[in-house]
Amino acid sequence: MNDPETYTQRDVIDWFDRTYAEHGFDYLRPVAAYPIYLQLLGAVPGERLLDVACGPGQLLRAAIARGVDATGVDVSAQAVAMARDALPDARVEEGNAEALPFDDASFSLVTCIGAIERMFDRPAALAEMRRVATPDARFCVMVRNANTLSWRIWRQWLDRQNRRGHQDALSLDAWTALFGDAGFAIDDVLPDQWFRQRVRRVLRGFRAPDVRRPEPVARGWLPLGVANEFIFVMRHAP
Ligand SMILES: C[S@@+](CC[C@H](N)C(=O)[O-])C[C@H]1O[C@@H](n2cnc3c(N)ncnc32)[C@H](O)[C@@H]1O
Repeated sequence: MNDPETYTQRDVIDWFDRTYAEHGFDYLRPVAAYPIYLQLLGAVPGERLLDVACGPGQLLRAAIARGVDATGVDVSAQAVAMARDALPDARVEEGNAEALPFDDASFSLVTCIGAIERMFDRPAALAEMRRVATPDARFCVMVRNANTLSWRIWRQWLDRQNRRGHQDALSLDAWTALFGDAGFAIDDVLPDQWFRQRVRRVLRGFRAPDVRRPEPVARGWLPLGVANEFIFVMRHAP
């Protein structure tokens, strides 16, 4: 086994470049999984959104469909090329979340889905997200939970953690502390909605949801601390 300490940002970029080249959009959830983040933010047409670590642009596509002015940034050149190709109406830049290539106070909505746990300097990335956001901005991030059986048994005990892609997870308390220390006020925390969205898709016979109607937001009946992933809805702390 390789020593995880030897993996660098370059390894992460190479891993994602290769994964997107081999699997394309199939590596990610389908576009139908992404409008919920915009709904949770109350995104309205004309607002400026930045999706940090946008991958090939699934959330950007959902944002454009909602009339939002969408910008994305990702460290993988392959992801950026795919997003630019698929979404000529979006602005997509290649860059590291830890040093965003945007001016201060440029966006009223900032999202980051399934990526903060991949970053090496999370406080720097969170500070950058706040820097490029307007004072009244809303933020929505989704992060992986370390307190799940799949993480503890499959990823850690059986050593299936993708270290080359810098896959990681933290507990609900640790994420909450990280965001608080970074200067965010947390408005809401929800379990990942994708399982329930998939169940609804099956019940609808795989028809796309009516995007004019808000999706039901599920809190789940299990304790939040055991969710696979957490969705944090936040703003700048006063
Ligand atoms: C699991 S994918 C999620 C992609 C996208 N957010 C989505 O949900 O469809 C993680 C993404 O984070 C990007 N990434 C990892 N570290 C990054 C960093 N430091 N700066 C910018 N992007 C990064 C990867 O290139 C990859 O596209």
